[in-house]
Amino acid sequence: MAVSRTPFIAGNWKMNLDHLQAIAFVQKLAWSLADAKHDFADAEVAVFPPFTDIRSVQTLVSADDLPIAYGGQDLSQHDSGAYTGEVSGAFLAKLDCRYVIIGHSERRTLHGESDADVNAKVKAAHRHGLIPVLCVGETADDLEQHGASAVPVAQLRAALDGVDAGKGLVVAYEPVWAIGSGKAATPEQAQQVAAALRAVLGEIAGDEVAASTRILYGGSVKAANIASFLREPDVDGALVGGASLDLDEFSSIVRFKKHVGA
Ligand code: 13P
Repeated sequence: MAVSRTPFIAGNWKMNLDHLQAIAFVQKLAWSLADAKHDFADAEVAVFPPFTDIRSVQTLVSADDLPIAYGGQDLSQHDSGAYTGEVSGAFLAKLDCRYVIIGHSERRTLHGESDADVNAKVKAAHRHGLIPVLCVGETADDLEQHGASAVPVAQLRAALDGVDAGKGLVVAYEPVWAIGSGKAATPEQAQQVAAALRAVLGEIAGDEVAASTRILYGGSVKAANIASFLREPDVDGALVGGASLDLDEFSSIVRFKKHVGA
């Protein structure tokens, strides 16, 4: 059965751009894509701004009916209560977020998030109708010791324990050594791990879910290398960090099909 997965280009802004800068950026991105007559069937576009920007992005997107999705960079595993500094998935859903990033390596390493935390957050996202963009990836040490797929596959299994992946899921394979390093994985490496992740999805959730779930590559993605990743059969898009803050670069990544003839 041929399954079509709409490519997905997602910009993880990390802790960059305040709400005024966010409004300007999203407006210009929408203009740039409209000018270029971007067909959103070629690539769905989403941005992941800091929490303080999301209300402003929502207002702009809904007022101008922009075809740009957005989401949070994290959420609490709890729905409400005495959790100072945390943000409930209920609040993100109320702001019309479609997605939420979960388990980014910066959360795992800088904030000590465990596989169990990530699992609880995936469940929280589903409780609130949000689609997790679940990040998995190995460090340089893991790569040396276990090869590329072992750690991401183990993280995927742990994150999906007791989860109905059919409720909506995007997986982002982000090798930690490739993030912000300027040294992207090769397309062959990305494909190898994406295929392993898809096989595990099939085992856990069945062939249909595995065939329809988008698996992204992330780590030093640029306009110059995006096409090579998207040519791989199991890579369905990209989670872009640094290059998502540069309007021309990000807009060019979104239009990978046109400008490189992929
Ligand atoms: P860079 O694109 O800056 O390497 O970051 C990737 C990333 O962490 C996206 O979540």
